[in-house]
Amino acid sequence: MELGLKGKVAIITGSSKGIGLETALHLVKEGARVTICARNGENLREAATRIFNETGIEVHSIETDVTIEEDCKRLVTSTVEKYGRLDILVNNAGTSAANPFEEVGTDLWQQDLDLKLFGAIHCSRYALPYMREAGGGSIVNVTAQAAKTPPASSLPTTVSRAAGMALTKAMSKDLGPDNIRVNTLCIGLIRSDQVEKKWKKEAPELTWEQFSKEAGNDIPLGRIGNTDEAANVILFLVSNAASYVTGTSINIDGGLAGAL
Ligand SMILES: NC(=O)c1ccc[n+]([C@@H]2O[C@H](COP(=O)([O-])OP(=O)(O)OC[C@H]3O[C@@H](n4cnc5c(N)ncnc54)[C@H](OP(=O)(O)O)[C@@H]3O)[C@@H](O)[C@H]2O)c1
Repeated sequence: MELGLKGKVAIITGSSKGIGLETALHLVKEGARVTICARNGENLREAATRIFNETGIEVHSIETDVTIEEDCKRLVTSTVEKYGRLDILVNNAGTSAANPFEEVGTDLWQQDLDLKLFGAIHCSRYALPYMREAGGGSIVNVTAQAAKTPPASSLPTTVSRAAGMALTKAMSKDLGPDNIRVNTLCIGLIRSDQVEKKWKKEAPELTWEQFSKEAGNDIPLGRIGNTDEAANVILFLVSNAASYVTGTSINIDGGLAGAL
C-alpha cells in the first residue's frame, strides 16, 4: 500500500518517548520529515539520537511545553522555517490524571485541560494556515477510550479527552473543504513508562508477558498493547491510505472499550 508520506512534514507533540516517539520513528522510516518535541531536553536529545541510530536521519527537535501557547506557535513556525511546509500534526502530548471527582481541585482541572485540550487547540490553530498553503493536511488527536464511557475515578482526564473528541468532530466539519482531515485515536492500555513503573512497583516478580496477561484480564485480546500498535494506526490515519477518513475515532484498546 502506498502511504504517500515521502517528503511530507510532520509535527508530533510529546514525542520523546512512548507512542509519540514510535510514531516519529514510523514516519521517518516512511520518508517524512519530522519535528519531535517535549519539555525535557535530555529525553528529547536521547529520542533524536535513537531515531538517528535506527534510520540514519536527523529529526528537528524543539523543547516545547504545549500548555504554553507561545511554545505551540514556536513549534509550528520553527518547523516551517526548517522544512518549508507542514502537512501533518499529531497532538499526542499527555499524561495520566485519573481521580475521584471530589479529589480534583480547580488547579488540576485547569492543568489537564491546558495540556490535553488547549495544547491541541493551539498547535492546530498555528498549523492550519500552513496546511492550507500545502493544499491539505491531516491532524490526529490522541485521546483515550475511557472518554467514551467514563468509569469512576477517571477525572479530570476523561472529561478533557471527551472534549478532544468533540474538538475532532467539529474541526473535521469545518476543515473538510480545505482537504484537512481530523481524526482521533482512542487509546486503551499501551505499554508506556507509567505502565512499566506500575509493573516494577506492583509485580516485580512477574515477567512483562505475565504482567501484561494479568493486567489484560478485562481486555478481549488479553494483553497490554505496544506503542508500535498505536503508531501503526496513526501512520494509517495521516497517510493517503486514509484519504476519505475524517471526523472519526479509532479505538486502540484490544477491544476494551464498551463503545464503538
Ligand atoms: N499509554 C497508555 O496506556 C495511554 C492510555 C490512554 C491515553 N494515553 C495518551 O496517549 C498519549 C501518549 O501516551 P504515552 O503512554 O506514549 O505517554 P508517555 O510515554 O508518558 O509520553 C508522554 C510524552 O508527552 C510529553 N509531554 C507531557 N507533557 C507535555 C507538555 N506539557 N508539553 C509537551 N510534551 C509533553 C512527554 O515528555 P515531557 O514529560 O518531557 O514533556 C513525553 O514525551 C498521551 O496523551 C496519553 O495521555 C496513553
